[in-house]
Amino acid sequence: RHPGWPAKLGPLLTGAGAVALRPPKLRDGAAWSRTRLRDRVYLQKWEPTSIGSWQERNSTMAWPAQWSALRSLGRRGLALPFTITVEGELAGQLTVGNIVRGALRSGWIGYWVTERRAGGGVATAAVALAVDHCFGPVGLHRLEATVRPENRPSLRVLEKSGFRREGMFERYLDVAGDWRDHYVYGLTVEEVPEGAVEALVREGRARRP
Ligand code: ACO
Repeated sequence: RHPGWPAKLGPLLTGAGAVALRPPKLRDGAAWSRTRLRDRVYLQKWEPTSIGSWQERNSTMAWPAQWSALRSLGRRGLALPFTITVEGELAGQLTVGNIVRGALRSGWIGYWVTERRAGGGVATAAVALAVDHCFGPVGLHRLEATVRPENRPSLRVLEKSGFRREGMFERYLDVAGDWRDHYVYGLTVEEVPEGAVEALVREGRARRP
């Protein structure tokens, strides 16, 4: 067992409802696929380029392999893969990936939230829950996020969560069919002394149940 995994985080109350994080389940497949197929236009422009059609990659049949890959990364301490729920229903995913320990103790954070639940503070609450978990039980020191300059909602999520812009990675990631520049944002444990959830609550962006 790796520290802080598996874990259930939250809930935290937002305008969109009660937000929680839990490990992905094999039976998430139907809701995951339904959501991802419905949200293709909204998600595809921000997601890494991959092989096969959107339909194939996001079918119910594609989930068991994805779930098993995520579970394996979690068990090996290389990632913290979460399903985001709102009021108990699957509403997106948040992953802390590329976890490196030793003298770096860092990982990246990435997320998506279904269009139906967007704009209500779900991603921001999910990030805050994950940040406190990573800097607490998991024992990380730094989190990093890379985001396209065009992705205004995601930039906003990072700013609301206290991340600092550190620079620009040029032609960094193959997203929606081309090499895209990405801003890199960072956050270290020293910058959230009271905790990310506490900061959100204090700013009135979320409430504890
Ligand atoms: N321009 C500027 N701001 C915008 C826009 C826009 N077009 N659209 C929304 N926003 C704002 C919202 O008003 C809100 O800010 P506010 O609280 O100040 O009003 C903010 O962006 C969104 O905050 P949340 O409600 O916490 O986030 P949400 O639950 O809507 O999820 C997310 C945001 C995850 C980026 C969602 O839009 C999404 O899934 N997009 C597609 C996938 C994606 O881009 N994922 C992120 C990739 S980058 C990464 O993972 C680090």
